[in-house]
Amino acid sequence: MFHRKNCDKKCTCCFCSLVQSVLAHVEPETVAALYRNCIMKKNIFLIGLMGSGKTTVGKILAKQLGLRFVDSDHEIESRTGASISWIFEIEGEESFRKRETDVIRELTAQDGIVLATGGGAVISEENRRYLSERGTVIYLRASVNNVLQRTMHDRSRPLLQTEDPRGKIEELFRQREPLYSEIADLVVSTGRQNVHGIVQVIMGKIAAGSKTGKPDKKTESKRTGHKKNTNQQKRKMTKGKTKNIRLKVDLGERSYPIEIGQGLLQDSKLMARLIKSARVAVITNTVVAPLYLESLTQSLESAGKQVLPIILPDGENEKTWASLMKVFDILLENRCDRQTTLIALGGGVIGDLTGYAAASFMRGVPFVQVPTTLLADVDSSVGGKTGINHPLGKNMIGAFYQPEAVIADTLTLNTLPDRELIAGIAEVIKHGVILDTEFFDWMEEDMEKLLARDAAALAHAIARSCEIKADVVRQDERESGLRAILNFGHTFGHAIEAGLGFGEWLHGEAVGCGMIMAADLSCRLGLLDEISKERIRALVARAGLPTVAPDLGEDRWIELMRVDKKSAGGEIQFILLNSLGSAFVSPVPEATLRETLRACIVPAK
Ligand SMILES: NC(=O)c1ccc[n+]([C@@H]2O[C@H](COP(=O)([O-])OP(=O)(O)OC[C@H]3O[C@@H](n4cnc5c(N)ncnc54)[C@H](O)[C@@H]3O)[C@@H](O)[C@H]2O)c1
Ligand SMILES: [Zn+2]
Repeated sequence: MFHRKNCDKKCTCCFCSLVQSVLAHVEPETVAALYRNCIMKKNIFLIGLMGSGKTTVGKILAKQLGLRFVDSDHEIESRTGASISWIFEIEGEESFRKRETDVIRELTAQDGIVLATGGGAVISEENRRYLSERGTVIYLRASVNNVLQRTMHDRSRPLLQTEDPRGKIEELFRQREPLYSEIADLVVSTGRQNVHGIVQVIMGKIAAGSKTGKPDKKTESKRTGHKKNTNQQKRKMTKGKTKNIRLKVDLGERSYPIEIGQGLLQDSKLMARLIKSARVAVITNTVVAPLYLESLTQSLESAGKQVLPIILPDGENEKTWASLMKVFDILLENRCDRQTTLIALGGGVIGDLTGYAAASFMRGVPFVQVPTTLLADVDSSVGGKTGINHPLGKNMIGAFYQPEAVIADTLTLNTLPDRELIAGIAEVIKHGVILDTEFFDWMEEDMEKLLARDAAALAHAIARSCEIKADVVRQDERESGLRAILNFGHTFGHAIEAGLGFGEWLHGEAVGCGMIMAADLSCRLGLLDEISKERIRALVARAGLPTVAPDLGEDRWIELMRVDKKSAGGEIQFILLNSLGSAFVSPVPEATLRETLRACIVPAK
């Protein structure tokens, strides 16, 4: 007997009793979280390609959760008394799919099961509906290589009895990955872990009540694919102090440290160590000042510094000549001199403007970056690009000018709006895509941790991004070659920002969509494979970034990209991918570019 609607901790129905007995050995918070998940949705459905481990994982998971394990393929075989290959051969795939839907309809109507579905079960819309409505769907994601290895000698897989099994698996991956992602509540990569490791990950994720793996369709605007509701992420970082991380940007005598950690704003010893001058001007804005100016001022004063605060209005529209003049006015009125260090306390807008002010005030004074947005932590505070906007173009006036230090207090991310956090994640994804596949794999695994502001995950994302960027900057400080790859997705992104009007989409949002477009272009040019393109798209979508480009008009798109700073002699330069982790710069044939525009603006059916 089951009490579907009214189950609570006191319920004695057989399902709950089973779960109770398992949970007797688990932490109380875990019990509560498991209750929330399993009571609401009593079944667990495993989806994924053949050979992804659904049956093996499902059996152990069912045992651990005290649920009943069922395999839909075995169920079909026992009902028909024939093997799957025989049904395929004699009746054909269509008939098999009908049988599969019957079985899935019946099994998902039951309670308390772990169901391993056949790899192609998600093809049917009806099956997808049963699975997503009647249980927690877990997608076991395996790479083509893994699937190939695991199925190589298995003659019972009818779809793989071909001359080119790899090609077939790649084709299945392409077709099915979007369908798996569409209904998955959890995505678990099965590549490098053993079965017990995978089960642990699943148990942990269920317990954490995490919901991941698919962009929330209900919150996406149809036109732009832009996720509007970003309030679903947790606002506070998870508890637990992470270790401070110290990195170095190696530029000879202009080298500087990057300090990453929690509570650095209050660390007066750190301030004394990193800031040499006795006088500092803290440049910030009206949003950040009420949050962090006081604590920074206190620690600077404790470190023996005399502090001059300069508070500007907030926003990209304020990254102007007028704001720059205001900073100079206040510095001069207060008799600041060459020994005054400028401190940028804020996001990329404040960082860029302060850096440029420091580059030009008295022909150059020291400056320190204290980033407070994820985008500034992982990108704008490192590398020495400084500047302001001109009415005719973004970042058109500026200088290369390196800071003396970057101090990234990750606790400041607690107050950052979700939309800004997600925009910062776009630049983190970019670093993985252009140079570090392992980092990309890690994001595929841990994206939900980043979205939930898990302290350790954020620290890792910031540190790895800074390392990657610092390494590129070390090799090509002034962007005469390699550094341009950091603009992956930006040629398209800048066109979106300018075409819609600055501020309509955040920079990171435009870059997120731009990366999908750049991957599409690379694919059309025969460079990047389809699977990597899809992985990039899926990760951008999972971060909650827009995935569909706005319709600016094809000619307007091209016109906007031509005025981008990266165009050389009127020829638009694109950052393209040879493969994940390998980027280069090149112009492209206009016809191919137009194909990409058409494909990315109008969502493929
Ligand atoms: N120099 C570079 O290499 C580089 C690289 C990338 C981007 N950029 C520039 O960076 C700018 C974008 O930076 P951004 O995304 O940080 O935008 P931003 O500086 O405008 O900050 C985003 C918003 O968050 C607010 N904010 C900042 N910290 C906060 C906090 N801790 N809590 C709550 N609110 C907070 C800001 O006041 C602002 O409203 C653009 O101008 C872009 O051109 C520069
Ligand atoms: Zn950027």
